[in-house]
Amino acid sequence: MFLRNCWYVAGWSKDFDRSLKAETLLGEKIVFYRRADGTPVALEDACPHRKLPLSQGNLRGDTVECGYHGLTFDCTGACVAAPTQPDAIPRRAVVHAYPVVDRYRLTWIWMGDPALADPALIFPIENYDNPAWGSSDGGVLDIDCNYLWVCDNLLDPSHVAWVHVTSFAGAGTDDEPLEVARTDRGVIVSRWIYGKPPSPYYAGLVRFDGPCDRLQHYEMFLPGIALNKSVYTPAGTGGPDAPPTPETYVNISYNFMTPIDGDRTRYFWFQHRNTDPQDREISDKMNAGARMAFEEDRTVLEAVHRGMKTPRTPAIDLGLDAGAKLFRQMLSRAIIAEVAP
Ligand code: FES
Ligand SMILES: [Fe+2]
Repeated sequence: MFLRNCWYVAGWSKDFDRSLKAETLLGEKIVFYRRADGTPVALEDACPHRKLPLSQGNLRGDTVECGYHGLTFDCTGACVAAPTQPDAIPRRAVVHAYPVVDRYRLTWIWMGDPALADPALIFPIENYDNPAWGSSDGGVLDIDCNYLWVCDNLLDPSHVAWVHVTSFAGAGTDDEPLEVARTDRGVIVSRWIYGKPPSPYYAGLVRFDGPCDRLQHYEMFLPGIALNKSVYTPAGTGGPDAPPTPETYVNISYNFMTPIDGDRTRYFWFQHRNTDPQDREISDKMNAGARMAFEEDRTVLEAVHRGMKTPRTPAIDLGLDAGAKLFRQMLSRAIIAEVAP
């Protein structure tokens, strides 16, 4: 069961073009392409005649022609030609058309009722157009696990102490107390760690010497978007109510989890920082570091998925799971409300 009336990331905008591209999202086969004017299209990838995937057909102008007997569909999913019986297009020859929108270099898809698809509901990225902020190119990774294991991971600041030893680990990431807060759209798990050296990943990025106060802010939004904010500020200047100083370094890792199906997740990310907006070397270094860390997560999460599917003895929870459990509960309630309002 997935939450449907919401926007998911379908892919990087650059990866959709004037060709037919088959994808599976939320267990549904979908064909993507772009119209001649560049706007994206997403249709159910199954001809209503004999269910040949339309992605095996041909793009003709802005329409898709089935590769078996030529039924042709426009961007709204309506059949506009039936070459074998041109005067009798079957009334039921129609495929579902999914609302799709390009924003933030990503292509977003609405998997629920098209009448409810409002682009204003796309996850807002603060400072995206702020020229003082720099972005990494970002990436995409398929993980063979249910997307909720990835969501759990992104509400769990403690795992870095064991999984990301050469990047995000650092003093206090294993045992400083965590705070859990519920928001309108999800959950925040966070903590300040005071007066410690920066983690290896950030050591070359912060613009001051000496110990830091560090914020780990892990925030999840329904259905599967994570904002992972790291703040490093000179020791003595951090804390929940402390204003930023000119040296305060902020990096936000945006993570978008789209279920391929119940056992696979497509994981998109990019990073956004408040320094060196044009510095490609820094962007590339951050991207490579993030990819390496997410590969570390992938190894763990795929094994967790397999392990939790076939436990020999019951699994237990730890205190660190409080945020993840709250998020799962909110998501379950949202799904139930959608199915049985
Ligand atoms: S299967 Fe598509 S037209 Fe026959
Ligand atoms: Fe991780």
